[in-house]
Amino acid sequence: MRKRIPKILVTGGAGFIASAFARSVIARSEATKQSPFLQVIVVDNLTYAGDLKRLGRKRGLSPKGTVPFFYKVDICDKKQIARIFKKEKPDIVVNFAAETHVDRSILDGDKFLTTNILGTQNLLEAAKEFGISRFVHISTDEVYGDIKRGRFTENSPLNPSSPYSASKASADLLVKSYIRTYKFPAIIVRPSNNYGPWQYPEKLIPVIIYKAIKNEKVPIYAKGLNVREWLYVDDCASAISKILEKGKPGEIYNIGSGNECKNIEVVKKILDILGKPHSLIKFVQDRPGHDIRYSLDSSKIRRELGWSPEISFDTGIKKTVNWYVANFSWLETKAKILRNYWKKVYK
Ligand SMILES: NC(=O)c1ccc[n+]([C@@H]2O[C@H](COP(=O)([O-])OP(=O)(O)OC[C@H]3O[C@@H](n4cnc5c(N)ncnc54)[C@H](O)[C@@H]3O)[C@@H](O)[C@H]2O)c1
Repeated sequence: MRKRIPKILVTGGAGFIASAFARSVIARSEATKQSPFLQVIVVDNLTYAGDLKRLGRKRGLSPKGTVPFFYKVDICDKKQIARIFKKEKPDIVVNFAAETHVDRSILDGDKFLTTNILGTQNLLEAAKEFGISRFVHISTDEVYGDIKRGRFTENSPLNPSSPYSASKASADLLVKSYIRTYKFPAIIVRPSNNYGPWQYPEKLIPVIIYKAIKNEKVPIYAKGLNVREWLYVDDCASAISKILEKGKPGEIYNIGSGNECKNIEVVKKILDILGKPHSLIKFVQDRPGHDIRYSLDSSKIRRELGWSPEISFDTGIKKTVNWYVANFSWLETKAKILRNYWKKVYK
């Protein structure tokens, strides 16, 4: 009898981080030709942030089963989600699907609550019903709020600042309730700020790159003193794979790089790589409730699972800028439809 290939259902798989994760799982499967490591099934309703190009093809179907099977489905759609679980019988779920942009959540939080909270609950129910062996929920460092000095551990209290982070913290609480009440085999993962190829240009780094390439003013909130811990997207993907392999159900894992940088330093680095003058920088009105600094204590995943990031910020940012330069038409297609949105947030 042929051995069944374990299946992993990746929600939000057409998004920035999930697609990097899916590509890395597929690459590993293809490297071990005889017995694929995992078969990837992608569920994504393709919001403005989703793009199947990130998965390397228009429709992710393959007879070999090593490229993602794709379902254009909303995670809030109970019937469709149940149908997919029934048909595919996934062993593992990794839930990346979310509304992810803080500024948009400040303008209108409705979708954030629906997708990030109710969508997660819908997946938890389906996964419980169909007895999956592992549910990895992708949360964020933003659930802890900001911290002037020191670092957040997995035991730090949740203190979100924006509607986005409040919706993510709510989802974490729901996942925790399933772990306790139903002995549900979930793991919560809290990565710091990701950057890298294919990120949608509403987020800081691709906005800067785009505007700088076009010789337009590069907007930066307040005086650019907010600090973020920058994690290269492939390092985030490798951490999630490690958690799948060795993580303990019921646990929470922070994923941080230790690469802390003020926004103004990030902007200057990018301008320098592109050979553009710092005079392009334009300070704009601050984001309401703007968190001043994020910083994670990631010693748990390093100590217990043996993961560590491989890409320094200097290397990662060069790779990222080079990727956007080489893929400028993708960036421009996205950026064109963002002009009105930018007017609303950069004043
Ligand atoms: N980007 C970061 O720096 C960062 C850091 C920490 C955690 N996270 C978390 O990682 C996950 C992925 O973030 P990202 O930046 O790659 O996001 P993204 O915005 O690039 O992608 C989100 C994906 O989810 C899909 N999606 C949205 N609503 C959906 C719904 N109702 N049903 C099905 N699919 C839906 C979108 O179409 C898109 O493909 C999110 O959960 C986010 O909160 C992101």
